[in-house]
Amino acid sequence: MTETVLFEQEGRVAILTINRPDKMNALSEQVRSELLAHLERIAADDALGVVVLTGAGEKAFIAGADIGEFEGRSPFDQRWAMRSPRIYDVMAGYPKPVIAMINGYCLGGGCELALSCDLRVASEKASFGQPEINLGLIPGGGGTQRMPRAVGLGQAMRLILSGDRIGAAEAKEIGLADLVFPHQELRAKTLELAARIAAKSPLTLKVAKESLRASERLGIEEGLLYERDLFCLCFSSEDKKEGVAAFLEKRPASWKGR
Ligand code: COA
Repeated sequence: MTETVLFEQEGRVAILTINRPDKMNALSEQVRSELLAHLERIAADDALGVVVLTGAGEKAFIAGADIGEFEGRSPFDQRWAMRSPRIYDVMAGYPKPVIAMINGYCLGGGCELALSCDLRVASEKASFGQPEINLGLIPGGGGTQRMPRAVGLGQAMRLILSGDRIGAAEAKEIGLADLVFPHQELRAKTLELAARIAAKSPLTLKVAKESLRASERLGIEEGLLYERDLFCLCFSSEDKKEGVAAFLEKRPASWKGR
């Protein structure tokens, strides 16, 4: 079987590329299981600090779930196909930062996967949408929950109820894309940002991400208490001692991840 997910390494950055360009990088079962396997391996590799997710070819990031696999499925088959661990939740709870590098169509499950990443960096050529309504479906990869948290309930309603596609500039305006670059610069700019993040302490990145992710489920009072506890927990790390000492001694810090 051909590999549907390619792995590359640039310094401390892992790049995962969905490799079905002739099918607009649609998320088949094989893609999801290969992605999960790569993510499990990368999580355990201390030499890798950040993951960048992208799509092969010039047209698509990911054009959604593989619609061909829906045909003839019973609700029980579909429920099995959607069993845990789900790739969307694995991305959101992943111990290292994950950046979606959105090079083209970012639709349906592709948009939901991008929403599960920590940052969305898009090409000016990218377009975004949740077209499930046109298939007699609703988003099933977290779109009705993560989209309103990213763009507000009104814009989420508009995108999910109409199935309309929007361009990168509008996606940035409503908060769906965080950064937008000219297509030719997308890879270099995204990898520069990924490398800057990957140079920080992996332990502190993990704690920062955990605290930020908590804001999705906690109210403000509980969230602030949780942040305070995690902040104080950082005082037990070698990296906090090193970071403060390096600042006072006017030298760059050397992180241990402990
Ligand atoms: N699942 C399975 N196959 C898909 C797919 C998907 N989500 N998206 C695209 N493809 C396939 C097409 O069937 C076609 O295959 P074929 O060459 O064997 O016929 C191939 O990818 C190229 O797509 P095509 O539609 O010809 O390209 P296009 O440039 O005209 O349009 C899109 C691109 C992305 C706008 C269009 O393919 C599309 O609307 N895809 C479905 C998006 C969607 O509804 N996603 C939500 C799924 S729940």
